[in-house]
Amino acid sequence: MKNFLSVKDVLPLKTALDLAKEVKANPYADQQLGKNKTLLMVFFNASLRTRLSTQKAAMNLGMNVIVLDINQGAWKLETERGVIMDGDKSEHILEAIPVMGSYCDMIGVRAFAGLKDRAYDYNEVILNQFIEYSGKPVFSMEAATRHPLQSFADLITIEEYKKTAKPKVLMTWAPHPNALPQAVPNSFAEWINATDYELVIAHPEGYELDPQFVQNAKVEYDVEKAYQGADFVYAKNWSVYAEKNYGQVINKDRKWTVDTRKMAMTNNAYFMHCLPVRRNMIVTDDVIEAPTSIVIPEAANRVVSAQMVIREILRTL
Ligand code: CP
Repeated sequence: MKNFLSVKDVLPLKTALDLAKEVKANPYADQQLGKNKTLLMVFFNASLRTRLSTQKAAMNLGMNVIVLDINQGAWKLETERGVIMDGDKSEHILEAIPVMGSYCDMIGVRAFAGLKDRAYDYNEVILNQFIEYSGKPVFSMEAATRHPLQSFADLITIEEYKKTAKPKVLMTWAPHPNALPQAVPNSFAEWINATDYELVIAHPEGYELDPQFVQNAKVEYDVEKAYQGADFVYAKNWSVYAEKNYGQVINKDRKWTVDTRKMAMTNNAYFMHCLPVRRNMIVTDDVIEAPTSIVIPEAANRVVSAQMVIREILRTL
């Protein structure tokens, strides 16, 4: 694996899941593989799980790790080419990226969607600049349109908990006070569509996702109908994808909050969320604290997904 940006980089999924199992069963087996190799993790946005799990994964592989928070202590970066840099930005990303590349063997990048310009976000401008100019393998730690390390961990978790070969997986929109990117739901849909599970995507009208991620999943606007018979309920908020209201919040209706009444309509479904989660907006206290909530093992599997990906990249160096 040269770069890890989407599910396409780990196909076939069966092999990827087998490698993940191998990593989980014996996390310290490859301590020599990363010896004298350095991972640079670059964050344009905040993180708890991605930062800790990816660092832990790299340490399990014997690597050195450097973390750079662009917004805390680094020079403010200009990302647009052709700009006259007479403002508050001291360094251009086109110098910064190759410099960063010269200090490491691979780079993890977190760069969320700005939610102002859909074409800019969906062209993955920042992530692609790292791929083009760093000279090193790059993996996504959540970019503008996808969060593949999260989706891989989600899939590993579903495989561990599923009671039927082809579970019904409901991904439901849920309310949030702020405008959030579509990266997690896009990516989750893309990964589940690469399996033979049944995927239902439920959301209010106006929250349709990019069709390239939805593919043949069933889209349901009736929240109660969506829950019926689900084996997994994956909750997530996202802002509007449609060009007209791109990046906006147009609904905060708490009838979409995951609660015990709707969970009772499922096939005793497990509750999942990538975290961080707004309690009693996205999900009620009762549901997230129930024995069927698997948000903690799901987060723990972030080490497994990251370690599998970093190990495969190390093997190519
Ligand atoms: N799920 C996830 O990526 O968490 P962080 O934003 O805390 O890294």
